[in-house]
Amino acid sequence: MAITIESTSGEALEADVLVVPVVEDASELPAGLDAALRDRLTPLLGNEVTGAFGEATLVHVEDGPVRRVALAGLGKRHRIDADSVRTAMTASVRAAPRVGGTIAWLVDDALPVSAEEQARAAADGLVLGQYDPAQWKSKENHRAKPFERLVVSGGPSAPAERAARVAEWANRARDLSNAPANELTPEALGRRAAELAQPLGNLTVEALGRAEIEKLGMGAFAGVAQGAHNEPCLIVMRYEPAGAGSDVTLGLVGKAITFDTGGISLKPSLGMENMKGDMSGGGAVIAGMCAIADLQLPVRAIAVVASAENMPSGHAFRPGDILRAMNGKTIEITNTDAEGRLVLADALWYAREQGATHIADFATLTGAMALALGDFYAGMFSNDDAWADQLLAAAEASGDHLWRFPLHPRYRRYVDSTYADMKNSSDLREGSPVLAAEFLREFTGEGPWAHLDIAGPAFLDRSRGDYLWQPGGSGYGVRLIAELASRLSA
Ligand code: BES
Ligand code: MN
Ligand code: ZN
Repeated sequence: MAITIESTSGEALEADVLVVPVVEDASELPAGLDAALRDRLTPLLGNEVTGAFGEATLVHVEDGPVRRVALAGLGKRHRIDADSVRTAMTASVRAAPRVGGTIAWLVDDALPVSAEEQARAAADGLVLGQYDPAQWKSKENHRAKPFERLVVSGGPSAPAERAARVAEWANRARDLSNAPANELTPEALGRRAAELAQPLGNLTVEALGRAEIEKLGMGAFAGVAQGAHNEPCLIVMRYEPAGAGSDVTLGLVGKAITFDTGGISLKPSLGMENMKGDMSGGGAVIAGMCAIADLQLPVRAIAVVASAENMPSGHAFRPGDILRAMNGKTIEITNTDAEGRLVLADALWYAREQGATHIADFATLTGAMALALGDFYAGMFSNDDAWADQLLAAAEASGDHLWRFPLHPRYRRYVDSTYADMKNSSDLREGSPVLAAEFLREFTGEGPWAHLDIAGPAFLDRSRGDYLWQPGGSGYGVRLIAELASRLSA
């Protein structure tokens, strides 16, 4: 759903819902609020309305240009950031599920978040907060009536417009993550990538099948794919804008296991249904490329998404098998559930070979990363400090939070193999995210690379409880990719 965005000064404002941000324990409402509304609403402060983070109180006001006001809590002043604004917007949307139409955000110049950031976060909160994961329900009556228009009152519309576009792409990534593995096979993902990219300029999509993957020498990727009836798919997207300035080619690499059973090293059944989300890295890369093309950013980019199903079967790969990756290195399989690093190994090498100068890979790679960081931050490993800093800065500005972890050659010995150049899984459980990263490093060629282990935030087992995030795919990475590419274009 495309949302119309406008900006107004206070007097001209008309809206079905006006969202008024409220700081916790404040005794005053924002200065920009119309005097009559202020007199009417101020007495609620400290009584029905506390300004607590995530609280939204809907008040029906007289027949006027504004029909309802949502008093939206931001929490304590010193804690307020863009996330508070996003959450306030979403809580307001949720407080008025049957209203729809036009929603306005009243910019408060006294907040520690700039007017531009408020506009951006409000759009983000509106688009992400209206997402409905229940697309497979046969009855429609649970659905909220959508807000189709956002007005930024007392602030700029351009940042909101851009944020809304990017957030729509994040929602497309969520669609991909939420789609069940019987619908979204690797080939279907390749078709979806082509459909999503089709209306966008300067963006091409190629989908290679099993025979081509084997012919390219991608033995690690092919090994993972060999147990599944559904064919694997190597999805390659190229964005070649006319005015690309610098000599940077952004390389985005994604893990897209459409279902991860663990293979012969079978996973326990509890919660296995969430492994339909094991393609979320690839989904973020596909939607992120579309966002880059949609914003017409002047930076070259190439995406390589390795998609397969990890299934146990009579022709599945086994523990003890030795695979040869595209770069010639041999890998002893000690655990078929450590499949992500195998498909990434060949995808990373291919991205570099195809001209990527700066690489970021997105993958739901290790359960231990989710244990370490929970569902809010992703973990990053990088061979290049400057590249890592660019990713961290883009992540923070985008709302996709990221924390850096170390790489060190001393970890490499844990993936030494008796028979081959390396093995795909250590017999130690300790440090599995960094061991995976050290494994990947062998396939990254020359140049800056960052590995983003998004196992925690990519697919939520439960809502984060802050109204913004529903269970299921979060679209993590799309906003980060768009922000990163914008900064590389500058
Ligand atoms: N897709 C999983 C990682 C995962 C687990 C993502 C839970 C999201 C939630 C990955 O393929 C996997 O199975 N990793 C193993 C690696 C181990 C065998 C070295 C893991 O983390 O247990
Ligand atoms: Mn696995
Ligand atoms: Zn996996």
